[in-house]
Amino acid sequence: MDLGLQGRSVLITGAASGIGLACVKAFAAEGARVLAVDVSAALHGAVADIGSDNVKAQVADVTDAAQMQAAVARAVAEFGRLDVMFPNAGGAIPTPTEQQVLEDYRRIMALNLDGVYFAIHAALPLMLAQGKGCFIVTSSGAGLNAAPGLTAYGAAKAGVINMARSIATEFGARGIRANVIAPGPMLTPPVREWLAGIPQGYERFCQQVPSGRMGTAEDIANAALFLASDRADFVNGVVLPVDGALHARLSSPSLD
Ligand SMILES: NC(=O)c1ccc[n+]([C@@H]2O[C@H](COP(=O)([O-])OP(=O)(O)OC[C@H]3O[C@@H](n4cnc5c(N)ncnc54)[C@H](O)[C@@H]3O)[C@@H](O)[C@H]2O)c1
Repeated sequence: MDLGLQGRSVLITGAASGIGLACVKAFAAEGARVLAVDVSAALHGAVADIGSDNVKAQVADVTDAAQMQAAVARAVAEFGRLDVMFPNAGGAIPTPTEQQVLEDYRRIMALNLDGVYFAIHAALPLMLAQGKGCFIVTSSGAGLNAAPGLTAYGAAKAGVINMARSIATEFGARGIRANVIAPGPMLTPPVREWLAGIPQGYERFCQQVPSGRMGTAEDIANAALFLASDRADFVNGVVLPVDGALHARLSSPSLD
């Protein structure tokens, strides 16, 4: 199916690894022009490996509003406009809540909540001037339901869901769409590394997912391509779990 993304201008954060990197590759493969943004200098190598003139790299910290404004300005300088803003950078510091130091709480909120707001805030005036724009935000299953050790992360990931809904409702009539992807357990580098340290970790995870496997970064990229396309023109303000039915399952006490 041709999604009509050729020539579209896309900015993706958290683009040096995992979901973000897979999305950069997927959009580039559809003919989109992509500004890949990440705080890590590893971004340069990742983008060089893609080997496409349509993919540019910008090292920037999403927790710094000025750097996000500069990233949007770069996208416009490179591509002339910005069609899709995809704030995807994020991460957790799983810790029992009573042991979490406040410095980590602030880091988690800055990355997962402020970072999304700054990206939206930087791109919104431009998109309103264009009369069209699309936001895709990466939340988490932890933003839909609670998980032990993820109080701050879950609050931030729930917060970005309402952020996107707010943008969709406030600006839908002016050509703006804002949707959320809520990944389930995805086999990206940080999760792979974490599971490797747990006996049978991968197998135990897979057994608990109704679809019987963990997700891949490409699973998220496929959802993002659809949400970014005009095929999703009337899809606005939604949360799409991409999680092998984990969120769909009733969590009731089990006697197994
Ligand atoms: N992997 C999962 O199972 C899973 C599940 C639910 C949600 N998510 C969410 O998906 C997103 C991507 O996760 P991933 O698994 O691909 O992780 P990842 O660690 O592979 O990639 C995250 C990228 O974000 C970058 N980053 C971190 N801080 C940044 C900052 N301040 N500014 C710019 N870039 C920064 C990192 O350098 C890294 O390249 C995150 O928002 C994460 O919370 C992941």
